[in-house]
Amino acid sequence: MSDLAALTAQALTEVAACQELAALEDVRVRWLGKKGVLTEQLKGLGALSASERPAAGARINQAKESLQAALEARRGALAQEQVERELASGTLDVTLPGRGEEPGGLHPVTKARLRIEAIFRGAGFEVAAGPEVEDDFHNFEALNIPANHPARAMHDTFYFADGRLLRTHTSPVQIRALKAHGAPIAIIAPGRVYRNDSDMTHSPMFHQLEGLVVGENVSFANMKAALHGFLKAFFEKDVGIRLRPSYFPFTEPSAEVDMSCVFCEGRGCRTCKHTGWLEISGCGMVHPNVLRASGVDAERFTGYAFGAGIDRLAMLRYGVNDLRLFFESDLRFLRQFRTLGA
Ligand code: PHE
Repeated sequence: MSDLAALTAQALTEVAACQELAALEDVRVRWLGKKGVLTEQLKGLGALSASERPAAGARINQAKESLQAALEARRGALAQEQVERELASGTLDVTLPGRGEEPGGLHPVTKARLRIEAIFRGAGFEVAAGPEVEDDFHNFEALNIPANHPARAMHDTFYFADGRLLRTHTSPVQIRALKAHGAPIAIIAPGRVYRNDSDMTHSPMFHQLEGLVVGENVSFANMKAALHGFLKAFFEKDVGIRLRPSYFPFTEPSAEVDMSCVFCEGRGCRTCKHTGWLEISGCGMVHPNVLRASGVDAERFTGYAFGAGIDRLAMLRYGVNDLRLFFESDLRFLRQFRTLGA
């Protein structure tokens, strides 16, 4: 007991002399560990008489506490010195990205859309948009599809209780754009559309590209040239096109646009179902009723419109064979497009 003060002084000197955290730990074990010098002192208390024991115990505990405090202070100081040394040596670059962080990338459908927008902007078109929650007037009525028109049955519409609906095509943007800006006009409107339909080749939400050009002397030939030019630019290939007669209530005459198959160049393969052609878009001359419903003088102006599936265009450009892959958020699929150009 008599040398407790001397022992404590020696321990404190050793703590102060430590230059490394590891050495400090050695000191702690030597003095305060299970078999440490001060721990042994406490064990020795049993040999003392009951009257001496409390005071001796208190002194040993005090010595332990002051040593613990010294160890803690020294540990803090050494850790601080280490941080400062590392900062001074410049080996810590806080601007480096963290490990395990994966960069994101654009979705292939977004890539296709941006590509489409750039091509049409270059040809003088503006990019327009409309709401996905539409009303009956814009989605049907103004597009020359009155109530009970058989074309409504083809649209498998999702309705809200108040009579509004999820737009079944991007054609309502034709009405909104004409009402807002009048003629002449040249716009595209890419966007989400919804139909109550889901299987291998149909998703309840998909993407359409609407095109609308209205002006004086806008012709069917202008439309054919615009569509052909777009497809050649989009696929960076000298694709051929053909127009087949079709029917849409909002265009007259109407046609389906076929493009020569980008995979087999028209020889016939699985993608084109051995026809050599891919159905790409609906189109036609804007029906005078549509111009009138939008407040445009149908005697003075003519126009054309087209509607194509963006997902389909993306599948064909990037070689994706299942539409559902676009909507499953599987990172193994999406990662493949991260480094791919437009
Ligand atoms: N809205 C039509 C559809 O969804 C496509 C289309 C647009 C056809 C414009 C002609 C003109 O099927």
